[in-house]
Amino acid sequence: MAVFLGRWLKAPHRIGAIAPSSRYLARAMARQIEPRQTRLVVELGGGTGSITRALLASGLPPEKLLVVERDERLHRLLAERFPELRVVAGDAAQLTTLLRPLGVTSVSAIVSSLPLLSMPKRLRQRIVEQCFALLGARGSLVQFTYGLASPLPERDYAVSGRIAARVWRNFPPACVWRFERRDAAMAEVA
Ligand SMILES: C[S@@+](CC[C@H](N)C(=O)[O-])C[C@H]1O[C@@H](n2cnc3c(N)ncnc32)[C@H](O)[C@@H]1O
Repeated sequence: MAVFLGRWLKAPHRIGAIAPSSRYLARAMARQIEPRQTRLVVELGGGTGSITRALLASGLPPEKLLVVERDERLHRLLAERFPELRVVAGDAAQLTTLLRPLGVTSVSAIVSSLPLLSMPKRLRQRIVEQCFALLGARGSLVQFTYGLASPLPERDYAVSGRIAARVWRNFPPACVWRFERRDAAMAEVA
């Protein structure tokens, strides 16, 4: 908690939240993943590991989880806290390049707590493109937001999204969204 607050005080927009996610929000995020039907899950913006811990507690085996964190101090802390996981230091905007040396070119799901709404739109666009380059037509991007509206509105992004959970026991309360590529969602309806 103190480490997280310290990083937020240094760069509020880069961290995006004053405190780590509550265990209720972390569990709501983890519930979006079916551990047995999943190949590989990437978590973006691991922070101090609230959601990482919930994903592991839900039964996701450590070898199926890979965490990306841009902040150096938080990356070090995650690597110490979760020695059984692959924790990658880097920017989600370079996701495909970051993961290629690890032999990862496709994933089943991406669980993100990146502060999308405090990013410039072009950066957000770049991150979404990187995510779906790995997710392909069938994978889902799970993202929480404190805002009322979708963090990836359909008019601006080629994704289709729905609210998967509302979590009041978090500060501030949050919504968990699930996104798929829009062409994939349309194909299922047809
Ligand atoms: C709101 S915090 C969430 C932390 C943690 N997952 C939680 O729920 O408590 C967002 C995290 O995303 C990281 N982050 C922000 N932008 C990033 C980027 N472009 N690439 C990778 N990590 C990023 C921040 O350093 C921070 O740890």
